[in-house]
Amino acid sequence: MCGFIFRHSVTSSLSGIIMATDFPYKIETLPEEENEQIKTDFQGYLSGAVRVQPAGYFFQGIYRNYAHHYYNFSLRDTDVFVVSYPKCGTTWTQELVWLLIHDLDFEGAKVKLDTRFPFIERDSALDCNVFHRPEICRKLNNPPPEPGDNLASMVAKPSPRTLKTHMPFSLLPPALLDICKVIYVVRDPRDVVVSYYHHHRMWITHGYKGDFKTFFNYFLNEKILWSPFWSHVGEAWELRNKCNLLILTYDELKADLSACISKVASFLGKEVSLNDKARLMKHLHFDSMKRNPAINCEDDVPLGVLDPREGGFVRKGKSGGWCEYFDHSMKDQFEKWMVQKGKGLEKEFKWLY
Ligand code: A3P
Repeated sequence: MCGFIFRHSVTSSLSGIIMATDFPYKIETLPEEENEQIKTDFQGYLSGAVRVQPAGYFFQGIYRNYAHHYYNFSLRDTDVFVVSYPKCGTTWTQELVWLLIHDLDFEGAKVKLDTRFPFIERDSALDCNVFHRPEICRKLNNPPPEPGDNLASMVAKPSPRTLKTHMPFSLLPPALLDICKVIYVVRDPRDVVVSYYHHHRMWITHGYKGDFKTFFNYFLNEKILWSPFWSHVGEAWELRNKCNLLILTYDELKADLSACISKVASFLGKEVSLNDKARLMKHLHFDSMKRNPAINCEDDVPLGVLDPREGGFVRKGKSGGWCEYFDHSMKDQFEKWMVQKGKGLEKEFKWLY
């Protein structure tokens, strides 16, 4: 049934739009035993997991159905992308970018961020079969999503589009930086692993019920969606001199939001008055974002999709929170991982802690 729906919605909605259906990388399924363990520990990963070689990027099995659609995604020169490894401050940056592009339309910003700023790989990152579970399905106001719905809706979206993705540059259209402006956000991976742990426990589409230490090892072993972290960051770093790319860090946003607003505005060719900046600073403050129903996903709580016990989608908003999670051996393990996998890149970023 699912296969039929997929063929119907993805292929027919996108035929004629995709210029080429090639995908230059090899997608490997994980060994069966490993895959069974992943499915047990992450109950939302119904299709198991794959790695895209040679870098080994880790995705759910259903990514196979979409890889070439993402790689050949039809770009417009008015598209603006926010690209990141998850939990690096994507949402914060998206809200800033959307408001700048839309001339501070705070009224329009009351529409959910997901609608205003779609997530390119939603179809493969959030397995829609999870929403078809009877206990979820009966609480939804609309029919549950079908495979390919999201991809088709982005293709139909009017310009200017603002688009979010967690995919690394190599899996995105090769002409991306020739055609579109891209803001890449990166964060201290020690804070990323903590935030990502709560994220995996929070969302039913990940369905992680384990403890922090187990998750920490999954992260270091790069068996977590969109890993390996350093390859992801490294790809962006290699492109840092491209005029259509701006790299921002979460710690920079924390340390001087005002300067970051100016930097992003100038990158997007937008002017911000002092008054505009004051309004943006207020709107983008952690407390406002935490309260903002267009951002905090609070309507997913009654549906049983988001577990509020993990602190909410906009959770702590701190740099250095990892200190409360890492014991001595974890600190050592992480240091070694940084040096081994960062290959010097880890020294390029100055984190607050
Ligand atoms: P924590 O889980 O550490 O609190 P992403 O949007 O990439 O998923 O990143 C989510 C992280 O950004 C979360 O980190 C979230 O709380 C934080 N965040 C979101 N809005 C923020 C803001 N206005 N100020 C500071 N942090 C914010």
